[in-house]
Amino acid sequence: MRKFALSLAALAVLSLNARAADDLGKKTFETCAACHSLKAGENGVGPDLHNIVGRSAGTEPGFRFSGPMKRSGITWDDKTLTEFLRAPQEKVPGNRMPFSGIPDEAALKAVVQYLSTASK
Ligand code: HEC
Repeated sequence: MRKFALSLAALAVLSLNARAADDLGKKTFETCAACHSLKAGENGVGPDLHNIVGRSAGTEPGFRFSGPMKRSGITWDDKTLTEFLRAPQEKVPGNRMPFSGIPDEAALKAVVQYLSTASK
């Protein structure tokens, strides 16, 4: 019984952590939302990020990407998104996204996680 109560407590802590990560991801995405929509066909200053996980870089119809982004050969997944959002100009030198990157690793991880669910 005691063991059961302990694992319930552990579960509660785990789901609290997941909630906190969701909130951090959502909050971090507010920085991106000035330029990016998550809805299909809503290109703004930046391309829409609908279904971004699995998409090939620089291919969203109706958006004029830079040459470096089109030629990058990247498929966006957790790893490539993390690298790009950590240091956009290092991952894709010469790209035109006016954003210097997310230095905070927790915020970075949370926003990539948020993107993979909220962009569907
Ligand atoms: C000030 C505007 C601006 C902000 C802020 C911004 N972006 Fe961008 N983003 C762009 C532009 C413009 C491009 C296209 C770059 C190019 O073609 O070189 C881009 C490209 C991208 C791409 C590649 C899309 C594709 O279809 O290949 C991803 C992914 C992305 N941004 C995610 C983000 C995320 C996540 C954030 C917030 C952490 C963010 N961006 C913040 C303007 C912005």
